[in-house]
Amino acid sequence: MLSLQSLSLLALLGGTYASFHDFDIPRSHATVKVQAFNLGNVTLKETAHAFFHPVLPGHETSPSPVYAFLVEHKNTRLMFDPGIRKDTVNFVPSVAASFASGAFILNQSKDITELLQDGGVPLKSIDIRSKSESDNVAGDMAKFPNTTKLVIGAGTNISTFPEFPNSSLQASDFAGHNLTEINFAATNLTFAGLKAIDYFGDGSFYLLNTWQKPQHLPGHMSALARVTPTSFVSLGGDAFAHAGQIRPRPAFQKNFPCPAHLLEETASSISTDYFWSPQSRDGAFDMRSRAQQLLAISDVPDAFYVDPVAAQISPDKLAAFDADPDFFVVIAHDMSLVGSLPYFPASLDGWKASGLKERTVWNFANEANPAFVFSPA
Ligand SMILES: *[C@@H]1O[C@H](CO)[C@@H](O)[C@H](O)[C@H]1NC(C)=O
Ligand SMILES: *[C@@H]1O[C@H](CO)[C@@H](O)[C@H](O)[C@H]1NC(C)=O
Ligand SMILES: *[C@@H]1O[C@H](CO)[C@@H](O)[C@H](O)[C@H]1NC(C)=O
Ligand SMILES: *[C@@H]1O[C@H](CO)[C@@H](O)[C@H](O)[C@H]1NC(C)=O
Ligand SMILES: *[C@@H]1O[C@H](CO)[C@@H](O)[C@H](O)[C@H]1NC(C)=O
Ligand SMILES: *[C@@H]1O[C@H](CO)[C@@H](O)[C@H](O)[C@H]1NC(C)=O
Ligand SMILES: *[C@@H]1O[C@H](CO)[C@@H](O)[C@H](O)[C@H]1NC(C)=O
Repeated sequence: MLSLQSLSLLALLGGTYASFHDFDIPRSHATVKVQAFNLGNVTLKETAHAFFHPVLPGHETSPSPVYAFLVEHKNTRLMFDPGIRKDTVNFVPSVAASFASGAFILNQSKDITELLQDGGVPLKSIDIRSKSESDNVAGDMAKFPNTTKLVIGAGTNISTFPEFPNSSLQASDFAGHNLTEINFAATNLTFAGLKAIDYFGDGSFYLLNTWQKPQHLPGHMSALARVTPTSFVSLGGDAFAHAGQIRPRPAFQKNFPCPAHLLEETASSISTDYFWSPQSRDGAFDMRSRAQQLLAISDVPDAFYVDPVAAQISPDKLAAFDADPDFFVVIAHDMSLVGSLPYFPASLDGWKASGLKERTVWNFANEANPAFVFSPA
């Protein structure tokens, strides 16, 4: 007879995780509160190909929402994902020029600091800002008081403009703030193949090493926020850019079957000139037999991924959380969720009880969703 342990081993070998226990995440009753902000949209013209492929005619430009997450732990608050500063003229000159020329467009009326203050969250109560991306879309650190610490992944290149002419960072991003580097080398925690640091030491919030994606600079981190003792929000940061880069996969489809109406709709809405699966026929796409995610990490010469092969590893690992009913995965710029997330002052903590995941994981494949990029437009 198979023991329970060998059963779960078999499940792991089959790539199916049934609960957070399968990831060897320690049990804990300590939780954090996670609240999402949607700052606006950023559009990088004609650059979809730098993020994913294939890019179908008419989808060369795809706008991205800009999310920022407020994480509350007892008396400590931290911001995860920096958002974008609305005063784009104050970026380093090369980035400011892209906004000035219209190559980049920002639809955003307020900075995260204003949204926090409007919401009654004093800026001086933000102890820590985990910067998941030290890149040219950074928010304005200078608007946070100097009591706000800055937490970055070890290996992050913090050279600043103008000493380093090509850097998108500037001295004001760091001035006055205590900078803490997270070093994953010493940790003995690994979840889904990602090294983890128990940030508050009580199992409520783990930082994950997802630097495999050197989109701009190494040091990229994701996070796992325990919002109830048995459910988590997986904050993916910039590990990938589009939900189609992790979905569908067999384990995901097993736990989150594509709703019947979408199976029917995608049969004709997803172009079989670009997407295929064993049970597809010309002009009739079959989602259920599709075994890989629909979109790959871009590997063209001007891709945002320095090493596309390495960059595929983090989304592959995060996909294990995505397939599991105990995790809700949300990345910094997931357009498929823009109309569905409960935003501040609501929290994401009740996502599991409210069925948010079941309602939204297939949004990306819905023709009416702004993230739909699977037929020529
Ligand atoms: C961002 O784009 C989405 C999709 O087009 C749209 O629904 C949303 O209103 C836009 N947000 C802003 C602030 O323009
Ligand atoms: C940006 O805002 C303009 C003006 O409100 C609107 O026409 C446009 O659709 C918005 N674009 C995006 C991508 O949100
Ligand atoms: C800076 O960027 C320019 C243009 O992309 C490139 O030619 C130059 O080699 C870069 N300089 C350094 C120091 O990386
Ligand atoms: C850090 O970034 C600067 C600016 O882009 C670049 O010139 C420098 O070579 C980088 N350093 C390393 C170690 O990659
Ligand atoms: C933070 O410290 C920097 C550098 O010491 C200083 O220039 C800046 O004025 C300080 N900002 C605030 C809000 O105290
Ligand atoms: C910066 O933060 C670290 C880690 O929390 C702490 O050990 C150190 O004393 C702080 N340094 C300053 C100057 O506040
Ligand atoms: C992991 O590290 C922690 C803290 O250093 C230690 O308490 C724990 O015993 C270690 N666990 C294992 C399985 O080595």
